[in-house]
Amino acid sequence: MGTETTGNLPPVIAIDGPSGAGKGTVAQRLATQLGFHLLDSGAVYRAAAIICKKANADISSESSVLSALATFQATFHARGTDGVLVMIGDENVTNELRTEEIAEIASQVAVMQSVRTALLDEQRSFRQLPGLIADGRDMGSVVFPDAQLKVFLTASVETRALRRAKQLKEKGIETTMSSLTAEIDARDKRDSSRQHAPLVASDDALYVDSSSLDIDSVVERIVSAFEQA
Ligand code: DC
Repeated sequence: MGTETTGNLPPVIAIDGPSGAGKGTVAQRLATQLGFHLLDSGAVYRAAAIICKKANADISSESSVLSALATFQATFHARGTDGVLVMIGDENVTNELRTEEIAEIASQVAVMQSVRTALLDEQRSFRQLPGLIADGRDMGSVVFPDAQLKVFLTASVETRALRRAKQLKEKGIETTMSSLTAEIDARDKRDSSRQHAPLVASDDALYVDSSSLDIDSVVERIVSAFEQA
């Protein structure tokens, strides 16, 4: 029932979609419920962004970014329901990872094909028994094209801006809805229109709009689709 392996490879549920659609929470809940590993691929791109910042890389130059990435190593440690702890060398960068500044740099380096290729093995190494929930933009299209189930999870820009404002407020960070909406809009356009691995819903993906659905309903829908896959 949905837990067959592809060849010898553990099963994968790929969840793609724009940021703020609820992918992180849904992926976390699925991983806990099914006892699967979790890949937050956005964190891999964000860690790459922090590495670039630390190395003072010129983020308009692919070779400058690549040589920065060769200098530092990021490591990812699962913390159950607390998400992932990210270290770069012996520095804990888990909090810095979530800032808008780092999200912005991540989005800029993510347009570079050589960067995407350099981060592939790292992402695929998370595919371990009994299975993997992979959260990102190109999980079903590029990283795990043989995933047992592909989900495209989205929500309206307004819903996503509201959710983001709430998350930031909980962390004591004040922002305005108009600046958040504009940032989300700009990042969406860049992620969807980039030449390499753009964010698009593939034909074989289960399309879920979470604007008017609660987390439980989204999780339930995905688990039942996985059981039928
Ligand atoms: O999901 P997130 O906001 O943490 O992602 C940060 C940036 O990384 C986002 O702007 C796009 C990029 N990204 C990507 O290109 N491919 C992925 N699989 C995950 C994230």
